[in-house]
Amino acid sequence: MKGVILAGGTGSRLAPITKIINKHLLPVGSYPMIYWPILKLKEAGIKQILIVTNKESLSLFIQLLGDGKELGVRLQYKVQQSASGIAGGISLAENFVEEEKFIVLLGDNIFETSLTPFIQSYNQQKEGAKVLLKEVSDPHRYGVAEINNEKQIITSIQEKPNNPLSNYCVVGIYMYDKYVFQYIEEIAPSQRGELEVTDLNNLYIKQQQLSYDVLSGWWIDAGTHESLYKANTLIYQGEKGE
Ligand code: G1P
Repeated sequence: MKGVILAGGTGSRLAPITKIINKHLLPVGSYPMIYWPILKLKEAGIKQILIVTNKESLSLFIQLLGDGKELGVRLQYKVQQSASGIAGGISLAENFVEEEKFIVLLGDNIFETSLTPFIQSYNQQKEGAKVLLKEVSDPHRYGVAEINNEKQIITSIQEKPNNPLSNYCVVGIYMYDKYVFQYIEEIAPSQRGELEVTDLNNLYIKQQQLSYDVLSGWWIDAGTHESLYKANTLIYQGEKGE
């Protein structure tokens, strides 16, 4: 399986720091943020990785990571011309994945646990996609899953709802099959002008093809000042073995 890391976007919630530097290059623990998703993929045996970023940042990523050799992975890059959203970023991976199943990580999602068991369970799934959920206290910040507990399925996902239907947010770790690229063509930009990953996942739900697992350990979307601070704290504690 190959991996795709989305590392573009404007990082507006981290302004003014992100006015001159891509969010994924900011420090988390002893490394730039982008190291963490790369190392998570490597740990799960995924070494062929596509990094999708914006044109302003591409040369910085290449300076930092090159072809990935130093980190023991093989990196390729793609430029996302405009802030077309997560699904827009995923669409750029079509040639890279060559019709195989693949995993997508949002580059600002920092988490504790290994991806290996989730990838194994997705590999046993014949078709469709898989998302990972995490129980949170502030679900309105995220995509939120409505779950039918009896059937153990997600019945819908709402993006940043005012009245969340559960406390389970959909984290930025997604597994897709080759049909994702057809589904992306079916979705239209949202009110914020982006192709939303939530709209994409809802299309899989419609076809009864979206499975889920609950992510164990801590998880942070490091896209705000407070959560970036938290990610640093948790990583430092981990590095010190606390
Ligand atoms: C994005 C997704 C959202 C998801 C979140 C996880 O939100 O749109 O569904 O729950 O990532 O980090 P964003 O951080 O781009 O607003």
